[in-house]
Amino acid sequence: MLVLGIESSCDETALALVKNGRLEDSIVSSQIDIHAIFGGVVPELASREHYHLIGPLFDRILKNNTMNPSDLSAIAVARGPGLLGSLLVGTAFAKALAFGLEIPLIGVNHLHAHLLVTSLEYTPEFPALGLLVSGGHTNLYLIYSPFKIEQLGATLDDAAGEIFDKIGQIIGLRYPAGKAIDELASRGDPHSFNLPRPYLENNSLDFSFSGLKSAAANLVQQECLREDITRHPDFCASFNYAIAETLVEKTSRAIAAHPDIRQIWLAGGVAANSLIRRMIKTLADSCNLPFLAPSPALCTDNGAMIANAGYLLLKSGFFSKLSMETIPRGKTIPDDYQRIIKDNIKILYN
Ligand code: KG4
Ligand code: ZN
Repeated sequence: MLVLGIESSCDETALALVKNGRLEDSIVSSQIDIHAIFGGVVPELASREHYHLIGPLFDRILKNNTMNPSDLSAIAVARGPGLLGSLLVGTAFAKALAFGLEIPLIGVNHLHAHLLVTSLEYTPEFPALGLLVSGGHTNLYLIYSPFKIEQLGATLDDAAGEIFDKIGQIIGLRYPAGKAIDELASRGDPHSFNLPRPYLENNSLDFSFSGLKSAAANLVQQECLREDITRHPDFCASFNYAIAETLVEKTSRAIAAHPDIRQIWLAGGVAANSLIRRMIKTLADSCNLPFLAPSPALCTDNGAMIANAGYLLLKSGFFSKLSMETIPRGKTIPDDYQRIIKDNIKILYN
């Protein structure tokens, strides 16, 4: 079963091929240079760029793999959450392909795909506890199967990736700043500056990072840190450590509340952060639980995660109608998969 995955929810146009659960090829075209001058993603520019790129990238992946469209068994596409105009480019392209080739379409939840990409490099065991940390989300999940994923907590305001990017910009780093803060932090002392660990005095598994963002922004101003680049490593180390400790604390509470979990998964763009990876791994080790985190290239947005989630869903008999809706950020993704009835499988695959 050869599944094409299409990702266009934000500022990466990405296509990948997954064959029987194995990654065959992955192309990611990032628009970072276009958006960096604005200090964040400009939705209209993002959708135009997806529109220009998606056809040529499809031709390229076919050429790279010396294959024809008719070799594909199914088309998986990120249906949300994300920027509506961007998502529409990917979903319209995917629907046209699925219709023209008469093969199944699988609309994939982008957030679930971030978590499930774990199965490309590890053998998953369920239920797993998933911590998804990205530019738009900081969520905790209980994962029972590729199609049964329960959200335990979410950020009430800013996501962890968002504050990495905003504070990075305030000290003069280029958008998106997460990776640069990670690198600077590795050379600094995490105890140099005192920053809060926000929203811990409650029983909820939700997160709130806006207070830490304000505290960090005030500190930069008071100590004139933007100008004093010699103190950037210490500041970044302290800031990164405050985020990591907050994530560890809530994850540790989620583990305590769910003694049946068998693995800890870390996913999303911020899962590429070296300190966060190390600290969540230490937590998992202390609980005798296996720690699974994708390699950094599979943490940030990519097509492999969409193709993989599509493969897992289709293998379990789920696909989408061609009339499937595209879902922007903030709206719930409906559980509206169609089921393949056993005798029907041939019709859909041939
Ligand atoms: O998952 P992703 O590619 O896109 C979303 O779905 O949001 O995540 C992007 C986020 C950005 O905020 C970026 O700064 C952050 O991931 N990021 C990192 C690192 N690499 C990427 N944050 C901290 N440390 C990193 N090494
Ligand atoms: Zn993402």
